[in-house]
This record gives sequence, structure tokens and C-alpha cells, in this order.
Amino acid sequence: MPKLLHLIVACAENRVIGRGGRLPWRIPEDLAYFHAETAGQTCVLGRVCYETWPRVQEDGRRPVVISRQTALAQPGVAVAPSLTAALAIAETLPGDLFICGGQRIYEETLTLDRPLRLHLTLVHAEVAGDTFMPEWRQFTWHERERRESRDANFRYTFSTLDRM
Ligand SMILES: NC(=O)c1ccc[n+]([C@@H]2O[C@H](COP(=O)([O-])OP(=O)(O)OC[C@H]3O[C@@H](n4cnc5c(N)ncnc54)[C@H](OP(=O)(O)O)[C@@H]3O)[C@@H](O)[C@H]2O)c1
Repeated sequence: MPKLLHLIVACAENRVIGRGGRLPWRIPEDLAYFHAETAGQTCVLGRVCYETWPRVQEDGRRPVVISRQTALAQPGVAVAPSLTAALAIAETLPGDLFICGGQRIYEETLTLDRPLRLHLTLVHAEVAGDTFMPEWRQFTWHERERRESRDANFRYTFSTLDRM
């Protein structure tokens, strides 16, 4: 039986997730949540995400990077040329399997016909950016958890949603 896929993302109301290769906001509570959820797990992520997260291996994460650049591979870091190949590697590694972005990887993951758990931080703002979460609301989700929060700059909702 394949592992449950966990997809984790922080997304603005207009589905923006990134700008200029970085997050388009600084929300410490969400960063802490992201790090806590993915600690000790296998994390599938695109090359840009990997390059901008130098401490990905801290807290026992096992990165599987999607890239044509096979030279990125090093002890503890697997590299795969496609999402399919990355998932095949990730299935052999311990822990839960988290899809950590970016855009194309989220898009391809949502098209997969398999159970998915979405860890969504919905940032209640329209934000300028160049990288987007695909539309997820077209699917039917079962909400497992929901928590509202805010800081000085943003109001946001943490949700955990299952797509069966
Ligand atoms: N808000 C959030 O939760 C969140 C989460 C993740 C990312 N982000 C933001 O999103 C941006 C980074 O995401 P991104 O979409 O620009 O880049 P990305 O997915 O991290 O990296 C893109 C690169 O990954 C490889 N790649 C990605 N998908 C692939 C696929 N399906 N098949 C084969 N190769 C693939 C390619 O690498 P090669 O060119 O090396 O072949 C491609 O150039 C940043 O701004 C980041 O902060 C935000």
C-alpha cells in the first residue's frame, strides 16, 4: 500500500505562494508550524525550494529533490528527475511523505489519483507574487482540523484537509 501523501503549503487568498524565489511574507508562527510538521519526515521538493532551504536536513528531514541536476545528490539528499521518480524513492525511505512544493510539484501532486492530506495555511490577504498554489477547492475535502490565528501583519487559518 503506498504511503499517504501529505501536501504542505501556505497560500494567500489569491493562491500566491512565492515571490522572487522566496516566501512573500514572514509569518513566524507558520514557519514554526511548517518545520514542526516536516521534522523527521521525507520531504519531496523542487530544486529552487531546496536551494533556498539550506538547513532542510536539520531535524532529521530526508529531502528528495526534483531536478535534472543529478550532481545535487549527496549523502542524505536524493535527486530525481520527475515527481514519479521522487515518489518511488520516497516510498523506500522512513517516515511520512511530505510534498513541499513548488508550483509544478503541487500541480502534479493534485492530479494524482491517490489519498492526499493537505496541511494548508490560508493567509487571508491578496499578495503580489509569481508562484501559485493550484486551485484545490475544486476537490471535495474532509476537514480534520482548523485553527485561526494572526500576527501583527496577517490573519491566517491552519487547516488539515483529507481528499479521499
Ligand atoms: N508558501 C509555501 O508554502 C511555499 C512552498 C514551496 C515553495 N514556495 C515558494 O515557491 C517558490 C519556489 O517554487 P518554484 O515552483 O518556483 O520552484 P521549485 O519547484 O522549487 O523548483 C523548480 C525546479 O525544480 C525542478 N522541477 C520542479 N518540478 C518539476 C517536475 N514536475 N518535473 C521535473 N522537474 C521539476 C526543476 O529543476 P531543474 O531546473 O534543476 O531541472 C525546476 O526548475 C519560492 O518563491 C518559494 O518560496 C512557497
